[in-house]
Amino acid sequence: MQKDIKVAIAGVGNCASALVQGVEYYRNRQGAALDGVMHRSIAGYSCSNVEFVAAFDIDQRKVGRALEEAIFAKPNCTRIFQSALPVSNVVVQAGPVLDGVAAHMADYPDDAAFRPADLEPTDVAAALRASGAEVLVCYLPVGSEHAVKYYAQACLDARVAMINCVPVFLASDDTWAAKFRDAGVPIIGDDIKSQVGATIVHRLLARLFADRGVGLDRTYQLNTGGNTDFLNMLERSRLKSKKISKTESVQSQLDERLEARDIHIGPSDYVPWQGDNKVCFIRMEGRGFGNAPIELEMRLSVEDSPNSAGVVIDAIRCAKLALERGEAGPLEAPSAYYMKSPPRQLRDSVALEACNAFIEGRHFDISGDQPRVKFALNPGRS
Ligand SMILES: NC(=O)c1ccc[n+]([C@@H]2O[C@H](COP(=O)([O-])OP(=O)(O)OC[C@H]3O[C@@H](n4cnc5c(N)ncnc54)[C@H](O)[C@@H]3O)[C@@H](O)[C@H]2O)c1
Repeated sequence: MQKDIKVAIAGVGNCASALVQGVEYYRNRQGAALDGVMHRSIAGYSCSNVEFVAAFDIDQRKVGRALEEAIFAKPNCTRIFQSALPVSNVVVQAGPVLDGVAAHMADYPDDAAFRPADLEPTDVAAALRASGAEVLVCYLPVGSEHAVKYYAQACLDARVAMINCVPVFLASDDTWAAKFRDAGVPIIGDDIKSQVGATIVHRLLARLFADRGVGLDRTYQLNTGGNTDFLNMLERSRLKSKKISKTESVQSQLDERLEARDIHIGPSDYVPWQGDNKVCFIRMEGRGFGNAPIELEMRLSVEDSPNSAGVVIDAIRCAKLALERGEAGPLEAPSAYYMKSPPRQLRDSVALEACNAFIEGRHFDISGDQPRVKFALNPGRS
């Protein structure tokens, strides 16, 4: 029997809710009832080997409550697919707010927006040590640059592996990557790539055009949703890193980069009644044989938060493997498969092979596949 993997959560929002529910939902399932899980077992660890030992948030309706209650507190709105949860004895602790809460949240109703608690924040590194956490999953809002880095430093201080689901560049940033390497701590990042979400579909369609010899002239990806993630992203100054992360994720799959004006990708609007339903519209315009025009339009509708939790549950188990093997710094193969902005972008088919090789402990050379990606806002086709 495998030992459990001790996991801490920063940001008890919708993604955390889907993850906590999922661990219980899959506990006793076998065969086809495990549908929805990418890897049923990772080196003997199943989904139910995840044990939550600590959680941090800033919202007055979550801090001080048991984790299994806090995940259902407003403004969380994701689908409840597993309401019966075991008693965890994990009480959500107050993290430092820093830049976690956008000012415009105050203009929206209580049920839809964050309401920070007026409490002295916990020392997160000390709390991580006390909890025995091995892996921290960072689920802070987009634009929480300082807060995400605070949790990253706490991971380094407490020697806890990090899964960075947020588009704040750590694993893909040379300075932060070195900090994790030097501290002997693994990290998988950055910005979680959903199971079947807008990013992976757009990447694969981009490859399809290229592999079939069709020139891509221009493309967009518009996304709407009604959860706090989309409400938070109404503040355009918080969006910069998300736009870079999503756009580069698709650009990285093209043989020739598109001019900045020919590729538009981003969260597009907040539609309150959509709740945790995210709808993505992709349009691609290109030219096939004999310069004949090809236009593709696609609509994808998903429940946003379980879509990311289904990937995080794999990433946690890969981080645990790295800890067991004494690997430190960014885990390149799992990051390439599970994240939008990994240190090294790979084609998704290669990333899957590389990730499986990592899981099985086999050597897989990814150095020659594609160059390291540098983030640039106005890259162009020459
Ligand atoms: N499919 C997906 O849902 C998906 C995909 C890719 C990336 N992400 C990213 O994952 C992150 C989490 O998404 P979500 O839908 O759960 O968001 P959410 O808005 O539901 O949850 C964020 C939580 O963080 C808390 N928080 C704010 N500041 C904090 C701080 N300083 N310390 C601790 N907690 C703080 C909030 O109170 C809230 O509970 C977002 O950055 C999102 O963009 C999600």
